[in-house]
Amino acid sequence: MAKAVILFLRVGVQLLALPIYLLSFLGIWNPFCKKIFFPFFIEKFTATYNQRMSEQKQELFRNLQEFAGPSGELTLLEIGTGTGANFQFYPPGCKLTCTDTDLHFQRGLSRSTAQNQHLQFQRFLVAPGEDLSQVADNSVDAVICTLVLCSVQSIEGVLKEVLRVLRPGGAFYFLEHVAADHSSWSYFWQQVYNPTWKLVFNGCCLTRETWKNLEQAKFSEIKLRHIHAPLYWTPVQSHVIGYAIK
Ligand SMILES: C[S@@+](CC[C@H](N)C(=O)[O-])C[C@H]1O[C@@H](n2cnc3c(N)ncnc32)[C@H](O)[C@@H]1O
Repeated sequence: MAKAVILFLRVGVQLLALPIYLLSFLGIWNPFCKKIFFPFFIEKFTATYNQRMSEQKQELFRNLQEFAGPSGELTLLEIGTGTGANFQFYPPGCKLTCTDTDLHFQRGLSRSTAQNQHLQFQRFLVAPGEDLSQVADNSVDAVICTLVLCSVQSIEGVLKEVLRVLRPGGAFYFLEHVAADHSSWSYFWQQVYNPTWKLVFNGCCLTRETWKNLEQAKFSEIKLRHIHAPLYWTPVQSHVIGYAIK
């Protein structure tokens, strides 16, 4: 019965978004979304998200410096950097390599880079998290990934690459929105919105159980918490936050 209601409401949402489906059918929506809509949306969303999640981000990245090498130098690799929303939370002097599949965040990224001169920017790589072959094995102290695993092609592929590039004892920091508790109304609405949400927000999936991939990956230790982000009236409140050690 619940499945039938979800399907019915899903069609209702799809009908409301019919113009976008039509543009997609005509091959217009995807390039428009990638080049104009999504970068514009992410710039606005990032400001609100960082404001609401500032405490959680500060808490998450508080112990980053503990993963510095013997010389005290900390090398970071960020997957799916976007507009550089996390730069302000990284410790002074750390060496940062940024990666993303998309070059359309350049305006926001340049602004964040200019505003965060406490970091040493090393390289900006155009590469998917599933293929970080430009980064050497065992070469970074920490990898960071926030709000990215919802839209990658393969979470397993990304985690495999994270484990390859991290030095032994290095850490993978994550903050990701995930599927809500299956018995909740939030999950009900996530299932209703998911197909349209994915189309509108550049492949972002609402119902991934990302914590399962993180727990199954071959990290030696994982600290993972489920939290409700204060993003009221949105289907992206359920999050996992934490770090895993190679
Ligand atoms: C919602 S944005 C988040 C950006 C940033 N991490 C943040 O927290 O604001 C998702 C980012 O992931 C990037 N992305 C999507 N698929 C990716 C992949 N397979 N590998 C690396 N980055 C990817 C997108 O281009 C985009 O910059």
